[in-house]
Amino acid sequence: FCISQTMKHVLALDQGTTSSRAILFGHDGNIVGIAQHEFKQIYPDVGWVEHDPFDILTSQLTSAVEVLGKARVRPRDVVALGITNQRETTIVWDRETGKPVYNAIVWQDRRGAPLCKKLADDGAEETIRKKTGLLIDPYFSATKIAWILDNVQGARDRANQGKLAFGTVDAWLIWNLTSGKRHLTDRTNASRTMLYNIVEDRWDQELLKLLNIPESMMPEVGWSSEAVGHVTTSLGLGDVEIAGIAGDQQSALFGQLCVSPGDAKNTYGTGCFLLQHIGDKFTLSNERLITTLACSPSKKLEYAMEGSIFVGGAVVQWMRDNMHFFSKSSDVERAAASVKDADKVVFVPAFTGLGAPHWDPYASGMIIGLQRSTEIGHIARAALESIAFQVADVIHAMDKDTKQPFRELRVDGGAAANDILMQFQSDLLQLPIRRPAVLETTASGAAYLAGLAVNFWGSTDEIAKLRGPDTMFEPKADRKEMDARQAKWQDAVKRAGGWNK
Ligand code: G3P
Repeated sequence: FCISQTMKHVLALDQGTTSSRAILFGHDGNIVGIAQHEFKQIYPDVGWVEHDPFDILTSQLTSAVEVLGKARVRPRDVVALGITNQRETTIVWDRETGKPVYNAIVWQDRRGAPLCKKLADDGAEETIRKKTGLLIDPYFSATKIAWILDNVQGARDRANQGKLAFGTVDAWLIWNLTSGKRHLTDRTNASRTMLYNIVEDRWDQELLKLLNIPESMMPEVGWSSEAVGHVTTSLGLGDVEIAGIAGDQQSALFGQLCVSPGDAKNTYGTGCFLLQHIGDKFTLSNERLITTLACSPSKKLEYAMEGSIFVGGAVVQWMRDNMHFFSKSSDVERAAASVKDADKVVFVPAFTGLGAPHWDPYASGMIIGLQRSTEIGHIARAALESIAFQVADVIHAMDKDTKQPFRELRVDGGAAANDILMQFQSDLLQLPIRRPAVLETTASGAAYLAGLAVNFWGSTDEIAKLRGPDTMFEPKADRKEMDARQAKWQDAVKRAGGWNK
């Protein structure tokens, strides 16, 4: 490659649920610098989760400027910007002032449950599934937008007059990065709204009508890998071109180079998201998984099957921040290693209901099997195991669906660094687990998408050659024992179901 490339970089912004990160990549695909800022989580009511949209923006911009400073890279040596984001989280803002009319309603927020029930009672489930690939759930953006229009004073009138804009977090960032020049999202994010028809590739009139949402609020929909506009110079990032956009899970799928049918990954982040690329044919699940759009640098629709688990690594944060079991998340490994097993404790972390394959917005968190001898270590271990049990439930559902059982599982995300969790996952699934050297695949995905759009990298084959060696975990435990434990887990999940109704 030409010498000048070695001086050039791609910047990925990874706007996640609990923190904003900026990660700078070199032409060899390696990370040159990382900056990260956590921001406030707002819980106004049971099952409600909000963010201040300006916290999202400021923490993201600060991280971006900081990483360039730390790595001593000049803005003009950044050839492209890729954005990846927490999906479904809903922001509605005034087109004229740029001010949000309400806080961002976060993907975990359950306030849309009554409207979802009404939609289901009215028989909309099949229509929604066939058009969007999704099951009716408050997780997706549609009922969050409807809630804002119904509950924020004057919002509906202003929306009807075309004065309000809706966006998932990517669109909110792009609007602000381009000083309101672009109101744009990409297909992977659009496919999470429950309003985008992923077969006909457009906002769906019938669904917008059903939810009573004016189409004028909707952003333009672009591809994940294309140049869409320059960042305003005054923000401190030069006039770098935005050339990659993807929802974080689809970005991680791409970052793991799962680009052919059958390729799958699981990301252990705040939640856990298992996605399998299923090619260019829209296929629905029979096992209560969802179908969603995958990134496609070739600009042709590609699909993925997804199992969404709402609480993964967040259970560790809960033990750290709410229970004060330890002060650093990484200490969970030590706590869990202090006991030889969970001693019959089962932890169902349904703090925000249950996602795939149960889809129960009323399920509650539960710890069962407590005894006089139970210690923090047992609960910590049960919490880690709950992550693996949930992933196993989804994998079994996906195996049934695709009839092509997994032969191994590729993993990434923060909690994938935890060896106890990875070994237990391998034991439980009786499958090898493949962990890449770089766990930041969500950010790499966005960087690859942006870099491909501006020809910084020529192809995914070229990118594949940049990857370091993987770590493997092989199953060591007895299959029968593991099956019995999974059955016990499923029993506990049943008991946690519907509790908050
Ligand atoms: O669908 C929600 C997902 O995009 C959130 O991802 O990494 O912020 O937990 P994360």
